[in-house]
Amino acid sequence: KSNILTDTFGRKHAYLRISLTERCNLRCTYCMPADGIPLSPKANIMSYDEVYALAKIFVDNGVTKIRLTGGEPLVRKDVHLILEKLATLPVEMAITTNAINVDRHIDTLRKCDIRNINVSLDSLDREKFRTITRRDYFDKAYRNILLLIAEGFKVKLNAVLIKGFNDNEIIDFIQLTQNLPINVRFIEFMPFDGNKWDLKKMVSFEEIIKRVGQAFEKNQILRLKDAPNDTSKNYKITGYKGSFAIISSVTNPFCDSCNRLRLTANGKLKNCLFSATESDLLTQFREGKNVEPVIQKAVNAKFKIRGGMDTLEKLKEPDLHSKNRSMIAIGG
Ligand code: GTP
Ligand code: 5AD
Ligand code: SF4
Repeated sequence: KSNILTDTFGRKHAYLRISLTERCNLRCTYCMPADGIPLSPKANIMSYDEVYALAKIFVDNGVTKIRLTGGEPLVRKDVHLILEKLATLPVEMAITTNAINVDRHIDTLRKCDIRNINVSLDSLDREKFRTITRRDYFDKAYRNILLLIAEGFKVKLNAVLIKGFNDNEIIDFIQLTQNLPINVRFIEFMPFDGNKWDLKKMVSFEEIIKRVGQAFEKNQILRLKDAPNDTSKNYKITGYKGSFAIISSVTNPFCDSCNRLRLTANGKLKNCLFSATESDLLTQFREGKNVEPVIQKAVNAKFKIRGGMDTLEKLKEPDLHSKNRSMIAIGG
C-alpha cells in the first residue's frame, strides 16, 4: 500500500506533534492574545481514548516520533494516563513544556522513557519572565529545569527572542551552557493570530550570530552537526558543557526536510505550522469513518514552503497569518 504520510514532494512524515490541551498555566504574550482564546468546548477536545486511537493510526502508517505539546501538556488532568498509554506504542516520545508542573510528573516521564524535554524559558530575569508570561513563576520554572537536568533528562531550553525585550540576554543564555549540559535555542518570533507579530520585533538568525561573534572569539565558536530533520542550527563554545542553537523558522525554515505533522487538541490535522488549513480528523473518527484517506489528502495538500507563504513579503501580510490559530491552540 502506498504510504499515506509521504507528500507530493517526497517528504516522509514520521514525526507527529500532538497538542493535549488548549489551556496553559502561563499567558505568554507571543503565544496568545491578552484576553486568551475562546477555548474549544470540552466535548470537542480529544479524549484519552481518542488521542491513543488517532496516534496509533499514525504510528501504524510510519510515525516514529511523537512530541506532546499544548497549551501546556502537563496541565491536562489525565496527562499521566495518556503518556503511559502512548508509551505502549513503538514510538519515541518527547514533550515540550514550560516546566511549571514538571516536578509532579518526573516519575511518569521516566516510566514512559521520555528523555527529551524541551522547556520554554524566554528570560533569565524574574521580572522579565513575569512580564512576558504574565505570571510570577520564574523560580518554580527554573528550579524544575535544574531538577530535570539533575534527573538526567536531555533538556533543550527554548527562548523566543523579541527585539528590545530579551535580546540583551543572548550571551547570558549561552553562559548558562558553560556548566549546564543543555541546548539553549534562540527562536525567531513567528506570526500567529493575535500575537502582534511584526518583522521588526523579530531577532533574525543573522543578527543572533553577529552578537555571538562579538562576544566570543571566532575559534571559540564551533558549528556542530545538526540531527536529521532538526529545527535548529547548532553551535557550541569550546569547553562549555552544553550547546546553543538557532531556530530560523521565519528567515530560513527547514521545509525541504520537514517531516512534521500536527494534531491539535480538538483533533484537527495541520500539515504545516504556517498553514491555516486544518483537516477535521476527530469528527470523522467519531462518526466511525476511516480517517486514513483524510490524512492522506491533508498530507498531499502540503505546500513546499511555509504553508505557501514562500516569501517574507507574503508572511508579512496580516490577512494570511491571522487565519492561523494562536500558537497556544496549535502547540508550536
Ligand atoms: P525536537 O523534537 O527536539 O526537534 O523539537 P522541536 O524543536 O521540533 O520542538 P519544540 O516544540 O521545542 O519547538 C521549538 C520551536 O521550533 C518552536 O518555536 C516551534 O514552533 C518551532 N518548530 C517546531 N516544529 C516546526 C516546524 O515544523 N516548522 C517550523 N517552521 N517551526 C517549527
Ligand atoms: N514564535 C516562535 N516560537 C513560539 N513559541 C510559541 N509561540 C511562538 C511564536 N510566536 C514556542 C514556545 C515553545 C514552542 C513549542 O513554540 O516558546 O517553546
Ligand atoms: Fe514544515 Fe511548514 Fe515548518 Fe516548513 S514551515 S518546516 S513545511 S511545518
